[in-house]
Amino acid sequence: MQLPQQLYETRTLDSSGLKTLLETQTFDKELTALADAVRREYYGTAVYLRGLIEFTNYCKNNCLYCGIRNENRNLERYRLTEEEILSCCKNGYELGYRTFVLQGGEDPFYTEDAVTGIVKKIRSGYPDCAVTLSLGEHPAETYQRWFNAGANRYLLRHETANNEHYRKMHPATMSLLNRKECLFHLKKIGYQVGSGFMVGTPFQTTECLIDDLRFLQELQPDMIGIGPFISHRDTPFKDFPNGKLRLTLRLISILRLMFPYALIPATTALGTIDPQGREWGLRSGANVVMPNLSPVAVRKKYELYDNKICTGEEAAECRACLGRRIARAGYEVVSDIGNVKKHS
Ligand code: SAM
Ligand code: FES
Repeated sequence: MQLPQQLYETRTLDSSGLKTLLETQTFDKELTALADAVRREYYGTAVYLRGLIEFTNYCKNNCLYCGIRNENRNLERYRLTEEEILSCCKNGYELGYRTFVLQGGEDPFYTEDAVTGIVKKIRSGYPDCAVTLSLGEHPAETYQRWFNAGANRYLLRHETANNEHYRKMHPATMSLLNRKECLFHLKKIGYQVGSGFMVGTPFQTTECLIDDLRFLQELQPDMIGIGPFISHRDTPFKDFPNGKLRLTLRLISILRLMFPYALIPATTALGTIDPQGREWGLRSGANVVMPNLSPVAVRKKYELYDNKICTGEEAAECRACLGRRIARAGYEVVSDIGNVKKHS
């Protein structure tokens, strides 16, 4: 049996099969076709929208790849007020969004209480919407309080599941073990959990990617976000090449076959390395897009990597632009809370 068919039928492969799939183009066509068929079987042509509110670009961390890392002194920092965040939600709700994703650096200015207050207000103002947080690593008790306040989902990419690789991408103050523990805490509390990794980060090998897939098999997340690494001029990784479109798409298809029920975004980073990247992502098995709902005035400042798209004057039009792109790719935007299908 061909490898993609085997992956489709058993949802897993041994590591030598995964290595062959990851390193050769031989099976790409079959992989993409099977991934699209599985996506249609589980989710039809639906594409779910998540309104992304990038509410602070302050961060206490120093991930070596990240444009908003603490030591980047060339960045103008901003924070949105609670009123501004709620106004993004109002705007998003009117545009048909039923999920709001609050994302930011790890910014101690937003204390546990402050985030609890914001979550409560969104929850009571928009009872029919999902509240997703993406605020990095915190104690289990903090995650629990935010969950109790009404947050339903949490996005925390593990970034790389290979210890040695993790240490090359992060300062010694951070640890893979802690990140993994956070993910298991979040799951235990009852969040719908999203994890994921970057493709093509410096020092990444095929073995690292296989470790990523194995970790995801262990975690069984509801959402899986992957996107190419893109270098940022003011980071220690500024001279490294960007991740590749082809490999990212191949991984999206592999993930769809391994996790048929998962919510998988066609990410902004994919749209940044190729003008049609998000459309290719959808055709390869992705079923979520995350348009930016942040005020246009701050979008350029949340620059995780160089040349990030959807940050200019045209950015207010993200919703309409993405709707057209999704339709052209052969799928359909739905205004729906878009919960994960039951894992089976
Ligand atoms: N602070 C939160 C966290 O650590 O999860 C959320 C914000 S963080 C900036 C969101 C994601 O951006 C990270 O998980 C990482 O995968 C991605 N990212 C950061 N720098 C990137 C880069 N240079 N290229 C592509 N993605 C990047
Ligand atoms: Fe904190 Fe990137 S270093 S969000």
